[in-house]
Amino acid sequence: MRRLAPLLVGVAALLGATAAPAQVANPAKPRVAFDERSFIIDGKPTLIWSSEFHPFRLPSPDLWRDILQKMKASGFNAVALYFDWGYHSPKQGVYDFTGIRDMDRVLDMAKEEGLYVITRAGPYVNAELSRGGFPGWLVNQRGRARSDDPEYMAAADEWLTRINAIIARHQLNDGRGTVILHQIENELAMTTPSQGRYMQHLYDKARADGITVPIFHNDQGRNGYWVPKSSTVPLTVPGPQELYAFDGYPGATCTVHNKVTKGAPAPDWGLYGEGARGGASASPKTPGFIAEFGGGWFDYWGSNGMYPCNAIQRGVGYQRVFYGTNIANGIAAQSFYMGYGGTSWGWLPAPVVYTSYDYGSAISEARVLRDKALELKQLGQFATGVADLAKLVKASPVTVSAADVQVYHDRNPDTDARLLFVAHKPSTAGGDKIFTITADLPDGRYSFASELHGLDAKLLLAGYDLERQRLVYSTSELQTSLRRGAEDIALLYGRPSEKGETVLRFAAAPKVTVLEGDVASAWDAGKRDLKLTYAHNGLARVRIEGGKAPLTLLIGEVKEAQRFFRPDPATLVRGPNLVRHATLSGGTLALTGDTAGGEPLEVWTSADRVRWNGQSIATTRSGSGSLAARTALAGPRALTLPELTGWKSAPGSPETDPRFDDSAWAVASGGRNASTIRPPTGQPSLSMDGYGFHDGDVWYRGRFTGSPEAKTIALHYGAGGAGMLQLWLDGKLVGQHELPTGLPRPITTGVAEFALPEAASAPGEHVLSVMVRNNGHNWDLDSDEFHKEARGLISVSIAKPGGISFAVPVAWKIQGKQGGEDLPDPMRGPANNGGQYGERMGWHLPGFNDTGWTAATVPAQTPVPGTIWYRTRFDLTVPKGDDATIGVQFGDPATPRSPGPGRYRVLVFVNGWQMGQFAANVGPQRTFPVPEGILNHRGRNTLALAVTGDGAPGAALEPVKLVTLHHVRGGVSVGTVAAPTTLSTPKE
Ligand code: GAL
Repeated sequence: MRRLAPLLVGVAALLGATAAPAQVANPAKPRVAFDERSFIIDGKPTLIWSSEFHPFRLPSPDLWRDILQKMKASGFNAVALYFDWGYHSPKQGVYDFTGIRDMDRVLDMAKEEGLYVITRAGPYVNAELSRGGFPGWLVNQRGRARSDDPEYMAAADEWLTRINAIIARHQLNDGRGTVILHQIENELAMTTPSQGRYMQHLYDKARADGITVPIFHNDQGRNGYWVPKSSTVPLTVPGPQELYAFDGYPGATCTVHNKVTKGAPAPDWGLYGEGARGGASASPKTPGFIAEFGGGWFDYWGSNGMYPCNAIQRGVGYQRVFYGTNIANGIAAQSFYMGYGGTSWGWLPAPVVYTSYDYGSAISEARVLRDKALELKQLGQFATGVADLAKLVKASPVTVSAADVQVYHDRNPDTDARLLFVAHKPSTAGGDKIFTITADLPDGRYSFASELHGLDAKLLLAGYDLERQRLVYSTSELQTSLRRGAEDIALLYGRPSEKGETVLRFAAAPKVTVLEGDVASAWDAGKRDLKLTYAHNGLARVRIEGGKAPLTLLIGEVKEAQRFFRPDPATLVRGPNLVRHATLSGGTLALTGDTAGGEPLEVWTSADRVRWNGQSIATTRSGSGSLAARTALAGPRALTLPELTGWKSAPGSPETDPRFDDSAWAVASGGRNASTIRPPTGQPSLSMDGYGFHDGDVWYRGRFTGSPEAKTIALHYGAGGAGMLQLWLDGKLVGQHELPTGLPRPITTGVAEFALPEAASAPGEHVLSVMVRNNGHNWDLDSDEFHKEARGLISVSIAKPGGISFAVPVAWKIQGKQGGEDLPDPMRGPANNGGQYGERMGWHLPGFNDTGWTAATVPAQTPVPGTIWYRTRFDLTVPKGDDATIGVQFGDPATPRSPGPGRYRVLVFVNGWQMGQFAANVGPQRTFPVPEGILNHRGRNTLALAVTGDGAPGAALEPVKLVTLHHVRGGVSVGTVAAPTTLSTPKE
């Protein structure tokens, strides 16, 4: 096969760019390049093994480091980051990149933690964000988003100029950072000439702004949209970028009853693929690149709480089968979405999700490493440690004794090392199979037995130079290997009790010492093969001397091998819950990490002293060359959470009072409206965005003259997933309307119809008060302006049955979040607040003086129509040196929805930060993790709850308590996230 010289994309890109880049250290020799098979970093083919993280879903920057360290410890060599334009821009021309929005900081941290970065800068990202990441103000643009409309492009350029400049200073090419790949646009499936010009513009803009690393677009599936012009494949749409990438979420699904249904087999999106768009790839001249591969899935309002199921559906077994299929298909870069999902706090969520964006990802929302992270660690150590995997072609077919087993046999064209990917046929078939594989391998023709049980697959190596040894083949999987001075160490693993064999080649019979476990060895003098046979039980240790270097072979069952970390190339650590860092200095190895308590600590290192989290550890030298701690590691100290008492409350819907002073409110007589849903001709435009209110709750007050026509009212409104509306007439609740829930794709607008009380017919002025809870703007997934769907009221008709609509004119005023686009609290930012009275008055903030409020009990006894606020304070005493995640929990976590008529919702403010919305009758989320930094773990905290209901029996606040969701000894050090404690200008 002809090999293309690595494309020096930095140079190629510069030639095509419209302007010279701002800064490139050595543009003639970019450190990131690629050929048709591999990414090439510093001249070496490198497999990119990445997972996704959204800093905006963890508003405590010190904890970004915790996530990055956990990713690194889980075997990743890269992290993919989306950036959310709307998170940084409350108003056109206004941008903030400080505090929780400091993107330089996350890019610095990634470099410090040794992770490459894939930047995904938008302008559009989707990501289950309100407006798919577009800022609120953008919905007022008439120009079509994601096209070359000048109004939109000027807006996009505002963002790109800023975010590109940040990214540009963190690129690997000039050594200032670790950004290796850069994404423009996301799943743009519209391919008109206008979109083509838009894509070209995004590309040119990135280059002009100094981005020198290869650029890609993320295609929604392997459809061939925006493939590089180098591609000659028919049916594809050319784009300006050098790389083609796509996403995919194949596999099983979770049913509404939280059962995993079996899905289609793992797709062959590379070497073994077929299809109209070029078989091996939609873009055969660029390396296989999956910018998002399902690592979980999101969950919706009114589900039964699918995240645990999603973690299983795309968890243990799935990862080996699906991610393994990708490796065997020669996919050069894959990134799992999400690695850490986090929290869509405040008004970040799109209508398709509720607050938690746990995603069933490897690192849970509470920052716990799930079981699947341990399996990922094995896959990741293998994928990033075996250099030969970065460049694969098909090798000769092998013979398998079972027809329902498939083996993909690959080779590295430079070294001839082999990968045998062993899976069921079809790959998701499951069942129990024992079979024999016969293969022509670099060291001869061999037959060996293997097994598969359940959803599983194996990645076996053969003809591989394992450090200074020659691995002929092994039916165990390699997790990792290293050189410790003159000695080699290798860690192999297999399924519990399963038999395994490992064959190594030596010039002469080596000396084999079994240090632990039951391992038999046989020397074949003819082939010069040493064959070890064993069953995978516990951890066996074998020392083999006589080759180029003595070898310590560790052979574990899966769970045992999962206890090993590889914090740097020269260190192997067994035991702790998590190993974050290893620093070698003056013969001492300083390790940091987390313990749950009782773990052993054993280290293979060139050092002869070990410290753990700053403490020196007494060790002994084991027969297998390690330093083993004499005593088990200590776990976290006792953590007792306070009960929440001392509640105070205040009524929070004074807007319902006919005498309420709304003189400062905006007249809603027809704001700028680019909505895809308009009021009927002649009616004023009421939708909130036209008045500068883009997120959260919005209030309307309407005056009309009583009339015999005023019998019914129909309120057409937009409110996102599980959105709702409350209507009062002259201070009395007329009713509450909720949009239907329980659907993965929610209904986001509706018409609330009520019979008006008799009072409306009485002569004189009447006042309508309407509160609309806007649970987010739609995404723009199909680039059809869906994000511009109206929010708040659209139109309101008062009429009599069978009469003329809009018979009774209403004069409307509107009030939303304080300041609209001019934020009074830019540190918490645009997503933190909506327009509840209490929010406008600063009741959510810790410094608010609530001494005048009434003492209250929780659970609440009496339901109140409208919104009622509760506040309390509590002190936390998390032991220093422990890491914890504490959450706020409502009612009984075992029931996703409150039974009966408990129609109420709660906005949860912790120290002024809106950390979620609990919707009692909708569900499923009852527990709201609050990251340290937002929560003061060693001191005082304020909890403020805005409880909104219809006042019906049962619609009152259930018990509220604090719960510990994660607790270990260790962690990173976390500072308090700075933000104002009071509002300087409360405004009604
Ligand atoms: C992808 C999209 C992501 C996210 C994901 C589902 O198609 O690119 O932004 O929406 O789906 O979680």
